[in-house]
Amino acid sequence: MTTTDNTSTTTVTAPHRTQFPTGFLWGAATAAYQIEGAVREDGRTPSIWDTFSHTPGKVENGDTGDVAVDHYHRWRDDVRLMADLGLTSYRFSVAWPRVQPTGRGPAVQRGLDFYRGLVDELLSHGIKPVVTLYHWDLPQELESAGGWPERDTAHRFAEYAGIVGEALGDRVESWVTLNEPWCSAFLGYSSGVHAPGRTDPAAALRAAHHLNLGHGLATQALRSVLPARAGIGISLNPSVVRALTESPADLDAKRRIDALANRVFTGPLLKGAYPQDLIDDTARVTDWSFVQDGDLASIHQPLDFIGLNYYTPAVVSAARPDQDGPRLDGHGASDHSPWPAADDIAFHHAPGEVTAMNWPVDPTGLTDLLLDYTAQAPGVPLYVTENGAAYDDVVDADGRVHDPDRIRYLHGHLGAIHDAIRAGADVRGYFLWSLLDNFEWAYGYGKRFGAVYVDYETQARIPKSSAAWYAQVARTGGLPATD
Ligand code: FCB
Repeated sequence: MTTTDNTSTTTVTAPHRTQFPTGFLWGAATAAYQIEGAVREDGRTPSIWDTFSHTPGKVENGDTGDVAVDHYHRWRDDVRLMADLGLTSYRFSVAWPRVQPTGRGPAVQRGLDFYRGLVDELLSHGIKPVVTLYHWDLPQELESAGGWPERDTAHRFAEYAGIVGEALGDRVESWVTLNEPWCSAFLGYSSGVHAPGRTDPAAALRAAHHLNLGHGLATQALRSVLPARAGIGISLNPSVVRALTESPADLDAKRRIDALANRVFTGPLLKGAYPQDLIDDTARVTDWSFVQDGDLASIHQPLDFIGLNYYTPAVVSAARPDQDGPRLDGHGASDHSPWPAADDIAFHHAPGEVTAMNWPVDPTGLTDLLLDYTAQAPGVPLYVTENGAAYDDVVDADGRVHDPDRIRYLHGHLGAIHDAIRAGADVRGYFLWSLLDNFEWAYGYGKRFGAVYVDYETQARIPKSSAAWYAQVARTGGLPATD
């Protein structure tokens, strides 16, 4: 900016605004079990999360998703909220037990009608729906038959994907098969902090393979029913793994966690093979004989996009002799590790401030992640399908919720995405986790991730100051110089 007066000409650098590419999607994300409630309505049957949350001691405070934020009844108002926020996209998940209560056989029309109504409402407000088919709510009947460690579950998932694809394919263009299969496999079947709460490392590795296979088979099923313009991808939660030191032992710990967290999925998805070092590292847990001929070709389907969920990096080292107490891995307390055959690896906190989840805030991890996937999957568009932070939000005397920490978190992470774009990453959109405060899995309602505060007594929705900030970002397509 140039200002001129009678005596001098001064050049002042204008505060720098950060503008995103035209058409960049500004979204928010949710998941069915975390928001819908109405768990016994319209033919829905229990999922593994209903069973788990009703098991004493599994979820903080005994919280369950029975009512959640009652989105099943308030969806029209919630879509209006999204429109007020200026969102151009919304990522939600379909509850498998609402659509196919036993996990097999014919669909329940009322279940499908709910999602059709939601999609139509979104489209009428110009909000692009992104449908996630599986965000952790496996029909309990399928778990009783063996769950994800059982091969048949992958086939059941493909059948369900085809049903939802046929029902919504005329109006939904973006499809995510699985959300964070790492959590389903390793928190669900190894550490047991998530449903179904099993603690069997071999079962977790089998589950990981059948989730991969389910993704591949579901992708094929979707392609056979969706119009050609539809995009199909997956949402991963890669660990941005950093070694505590550059010592060979710590670098090897990093390699091993990278295999267990990341390459167990990207190997088959992007290269059509499991990494040999992963197979070797886990040899005392499993012989991998559950991988059958043809599976890797089924999994290795072209991806139209990759969804990346990022919250915080992981710092690892070889276990120190002086170290005792529970491993810090940011996924809740358990006597059992989520990481098969990795008891000699220690997890550490990255330096710096933390959120209410005790997760260190480090936006540079997001830039690194996006550039890493740009290199691993050249030409495949990327979306940040989840990112956000929990803070101990309260309603102030003025009736508002002021959350400057969240604004700073979002600003930092959106800036980190912009850095990645400038360095060549093809990032097409951002989905803030989450639209609303909701049921945060094993933490219950104690952790608030929403841009919109929910009073769980009255179900009143109060947009936080971060919601107004994000609305401004969405409307202007960029970040302000200062908040
Ligand atoms: C992710 C989940 C999402 C939410 C956030 C905080 O791992 O996909 O449902 O719980 O973490």
